[in-house]
Amino acid sequence: MTDRHVALVGFMGAGKTTLGEEAAARTGRPFVDLDEEIHRRTGSTIVELFAEGESAFRSVEEEIVCDVLARTDPHVLALGGGAVLSERTRAELRRRATTLHVPVDVDEAWSRVEGSDRPLAQGRDRFGELYEERRPLYEQVADAEVRDADDVVLAAAGVHVEPGALQRLGELVPGDGPVALVSDPHVAGIHGMDTQLALGPRLAEMHELPPGEEAKTLDALDHLWQDLRLDRRGTIVALGGGCTTDAAGFAAATYMRGVAWAPVPTSLVAQVDAAIGGKTGIDLPQGKNLVGAFHWPARTIIDPALLATLPEAQRREGLAEVVKTGLLAGEPFWELRDDELVRRTASFKAALCLRDPHDLAERKMLNLGHTFAHALEAAAGYEGLTHGRAVALGLLAALRLSGRDIGQVEEILRPKPVEVDRDKAWEAMQRDKKAVGGELRLVLLDDDGPRWDVAVPAGEVRAALDALIAG
Ligand SMILES: NC(=O)c1ccc[n+]([C@@H]2O[C@H](COP(=O)([O-])OP(=O)(O)OC[C@H]3O[C@@H](n4cnc5c(N)ncnc54)[C@H](O)[C@@H]3O)[C@@H](O)[C@H]2O)c1
Ligand SMILES: [Zn+2]
Repeated sequence: MTDRHVALVGFMGAGKTTLGEEAAARTGRPFVDLDEEIHRRTGSTIVELFAEGESAFRSVEEEIVCDVLARTDPHVLALGGGAVLSERTRAELRRRATTLHVPVDVDEAWSRVEGSDRPLAQGRDRFGELYEERRPLYEQVADAEVRDADDVVLAAAGVHVEPGALQRLGELVPGDGPVALVSDPHVAGIHGMDTQLALGPRLAEMHELPPGEEAKTLDALDHLWQDLRLDRRGTIVALGGGCTTDAAGFAAATYMRGVAWAPVPTSLVAQVDAAIGGKTGIDLPQGKNLVGAFHWPARTIIDPALLATLPEAQRREGLAEVVKTGLLAGEPFWELRDDELVRRTASFKAALCLRDPHDLAERKMLNLGHTFAHALEAAAGYEGLTHGRAVALGLLAALRLSGRDIGQVEEILRPKPVEVDRDKAWEAMQRDKKAVGGELRLVLLDDDGPRWDVAVPAGEVRAALDALIAG
């Protein structure tokens, strides 16, 4: 999925170049504007090439577009408005790219290109005719429509966000092989019937994992591995919160040396965090997430409407991650209504994961507040303190150490200090895998953005940790 190019198609004046540049910068991919590439390679402007006749221009264009599409590292490409007239180009797009249509209203497009030297924008009537002729072609060649750079980033990561997506699951799960549905038992009771109906004849088998963290045990995995009947053409669809997607994703990474999988996250935590970025895994008695694999989903299918049945306490768990991500992005995602809140937060994480799939660099910023959170959770023995509340507290500590105002986090998440043993928490913090040579490395939030792997003196870290503990 993530090794495909992203190709933007659409009428002239749709804004493909601007969108493409922004999405490329966010995902760390090279950007190529095909009109510019043609100019660069031929030494002639589009106007000059057109002067020799449109068909001469089209064959030069086809050659260069197909040559760029043949590159093996994934790019973001903006195609000229007429490039999709070529059948060969359309075939290459299907083979090598996720093709996205940037729609534009005809009057809007005209107002943007009117008076330019574009050969096909020299009269309003002909422009309108061309628009009508080409629109069906864009719709036919494109895998999806995109409105902004977040949409492009999500498409590049194979993340589909759509209210009501559950009803279209049969079409949205990639491929045409059989599907094994793996669900959280509680979620299956609420949304299982709709899911089965939507999967239709592709649904070959159904499995339930134990509820909550119990899903992420070797015992649960053992049962699932032995119950699965899929062959390698099959796809595992994981319906549930982050525990289900982590465990079912790990089953997909390992069963038959790896089969395709498509998480359908149902909790806020899973929609904005767990089901994005390809990390899968289970727990050991020694600690959480100690065994796992990077296994990028064939598609992550997010239906924000499913959040309607999520209990308030679970919603607050997710809100802590939304606030964390919003702080990193410098935008108050938490103020948006569900559809947008999920889309924007998921897109921020997706971009980081595309830039750094194996968590060696900037993806680490997603750990903002988490070193503190993990220490508090360990000191509490993973009881009576949820991850969301621990993250909310951890964010306070990270912001204080960054010299930032904590008012916003306090107002939205209202984290209450937790009663745990101070020494136990401190010990756990030093054992954390981010401690290198006795010096603690944290994510901090500077005025010009997040920094990770920042060495902070132990005394300051301990004081910040102590401030989160009651009594
Ligand atoms: N892989 C990653 O990158 C990543 C990132 C973050 C978290 N995680 C993992 O995610 C897990 C936590 O996920 P979680 O908070 O979703 O927990 P969870 O899977 O246990 O779900 C929380 C609860 O909400 C219920 N629920 C879920 N969706 C519902 C819905 N639509 N309606 C009603 N009830 C619903 C579930 O039945 C469960 O009781 C942890 O194990 C964590 O390690 C993984
Ligand atoms: Zn977290």
